[in-house]
Amino acid sequence: MIWERKYSHGQIYLEYPDEMIVRCIQKHMQPKAHSKVLDLGCGTGRHSELLASKCFETYSCDISKNSVSITRNRLRSKGLNGKFSLFSHSWDLPFESDFFDVIIASHSIYYNTLKNLRRTIDEIYRILKKDGILIATFIGKRDYRQKHGRLISKNMYIGKETTKDHKGLTYCVFNNITDIRKLIDGKLMEVSYGYNEWYLELDRRVCHWFLIAKK
Ligand SMILES: C[S@@+](CC[C@H](N)C(=O)[O-])C[C@H]1O[C@@H](n2cnc3c(N)ncnc32)[C@H](O)[C@@H]1O
Repeated sequence: MIWERKYSHGQIYLEYPDEMIVRCIQKHMQPKAHSKVLDLGCGTGRHSELLASKCFETYSCDISKNSVSITRNRLRSKGLNGKFSLFSHSWDLPFESDFFDVIIASHSIYYNTLKNLRRTIDEIYRILKKDGILIATFIGKRDYRQKHGRLISKNMYIGKETTKDHKGLTYCVFNNITDIRKLIDGKLMEVSYGYNEWYLELDRRVCHWFLIAKK
């Protein structure tokens, strides 16, 4: 599995949380009201660490075993508590229904086919409590992964060799917020959304939508 290989080579270890996620947490979450939080697709645990340090009851999960173990070690080495689990499919998560107050899906669930991304939103809906919040990111138009991806069908790409770090990965790209709204339509209610762009290198523009939605 591509992600497993990335983590086993120590290729990615992100030290600091995403500033936009930090702002969303500050604006939309209070430790008492939003106790149970899932870091869905936790990677190397930068947001799990932040959440646990803010005393949220933090659950971290990923499809990569290496990722879960890196996150577990990261939190333990800092004396932080957390619960860790592995899943095989993001549309079949190992949690009870109506369980989480908040789910953070930072740069994770868009690594899906469009059909499976829809199923993942259904699954998020299932495990969120009523009034629970989803904070999620999605790849936006003009991101380098769009330019360096092969379009398979609407919104869906496979990373070409030239993406470097995304070769062979399947992901969804959204040219506008309307297509993201369609994903949550009839399930979650949009609270707000944002957008940002930055450059990894001058020819590698990174574009993301940030969606905050409520069950
Ligand atoms: C770019 S990393 C982001 C990690 C972390 N959320 C962060 O913001 O640092 C993407 C992570 O999503 C996981 N992932 C891959 N496919 C996924 C899917 N369909 N649903 C959820 N997570 C997925 C990968 O294993 C990887 O750890």
